[in-house]
Amino acid sequence: MRIRLQPGKSDAAYTMLFKSNLTLAQRVDIGPESRLRTGKILKQIATGNKVLILHQPGLPETWLAELKSVLSEQSLEAHVLILPAGESAKSTAELTKIWSYLQQSEFSREDWILALGGGAVSDIGGFAAATYLRGIKLALCPTTLLAQVDAAIGGKTAINLEHGKNLAGSFYFPEIVIIDPEYLSTLPESERKSGMGEIVKYALIESTVEEETEYKSGHLPLLKVLENNFTTNISWNDPSLLPLIASCIQMKMAVVLKDPHESRLRRCLNLGHTLGHALEKASNFQISHGQAVASGCHFALKLAQSRNLIAQAEIERFTLLLEKLGLDKSYPEELSRQTLLNAMSSDKKRQGDAIRFVLPEERLGKVNLATQITLQELGEHI
Ligand SMILES: NC(=O)c1ccc[n+]([C@@H]2O[C@H](COP(=O)([O-])OP(=O)(O)OC[C@H]3O[C@@H](n4cnc5c(N)ncnc54)[C@H](O)[C@@H]3O)[C@@H](O)[C@H]2O)c1
Repeated sequence: MRIRLQPGKSDAAYTMLFKSNLTLAQRVDIGPESRLRTGKILKQIATGNKVLILHQPGLPETWLAELKSVLSEQSLEAHVLILPAGESAKSTAELTKIWSYLQQSEFSREDWILALGGGAVSDIGGFAAATYLRGIKLALCPTTLLAQVDAAIGGKTAINLEHGKNLAGSFYFPEIVIIDPEYLSTLPESERKSGMGEIVKYALIESTVEEETEYKSGHLPLLKVLENNFTTNISWNDPSLLPLIASCIQMKMAVVLKDPHESRLRRCLNLGHTLGHALEKASNFQISHGQAVASGCHFALKLAQSRNLIAQAEIERFTLLLEKLGLDKSYPEELSRQTLLNAMSSDKKRQGDAIRFVLPEERLGKVNLATQITLQELGEHI
């Protein structure tokens, strides 16, 4: 894998190119005002001049208006489809609508789907791009913190099926991901916290990723950076934020390029997600993805401690960090243990009466990638 940093147009902006030995896997343009270069970047990459922007309710109209104008300056033809809010965007019905739109408007493989929004939009946008004409150009402009550090990175696309989240999908890399911290200026505090929920997961896997890939942590581990510099009030123009986002992206891409199809190492990215997905489903998506992952990480630490993999002091350190960031370690009492157990039982990682868990090991930052936990054991600790 090669990670190449190239200076961008403004001093603080740069391009990250993530390559495997054979192909360019993902290009990420990151920095202040990178969103204003979107039209130029699309023009450089492909010859198509149609762009279907997928948009979501709740995202301020100004971002859409600005993007349309930036595309039109480059003579790109903007089409817009507004998806339903949140998880309801990730449905077969919406996928069919997107395919029909592309067909009726005669999109070719050189034309674009551009997902402007959070992870829900990039997940379905990615799947639509992967499947229409067996693959058309895909650009992602993630506008939530969670999508900037995670959902838009790494090539996983998905929709939900009746029985659960992300049950249909594909691996499909976007041609370009444009990360502009200013998008976060309009993000509600609850969504910023949700992003932090996914970022704490990265802090809990950083040493393992560093040991097993070419990823190098900064002069301080991510855990320390979070403890030293961040609280509930994250400002989009805080100078610590962009390097934090960049570290998460580099970590994720290092893992993805080493193990694109999740045969081993990539499992570390699932830390906290077994309980996390169950919490999202059982709460009918009232608990945000990042908050659910943060609670799931805390639960994974408790399981690890019950197996003597990690000391109590490490759980206390993590609990303090969650408190500082305004994240809950636990979940609302009205969600019964049985409902959560049932939701976890349909996890993709279940084999017989056990589920394969990623658990913290030795210290915060290191994980064990394959611990089998029986449903009975889960029931005892939840
Ligand atoms: N593919 C992957 O690798 C991957 C990884 C993690 C999560 N995900 C998926 O991502 C989804 C969650 O993504 P999310 O947390 O971004 O949620 P989301 O896409 O549902 O967006 C959350 C809310 O934020 C609003 N919003 C978005 N940007 C805004 C902005 N700049 N200003 C104001 N409001 C804004 C949206 O309107 C929406 O109401 C889940 O479906 C999850 O499964 C995918």
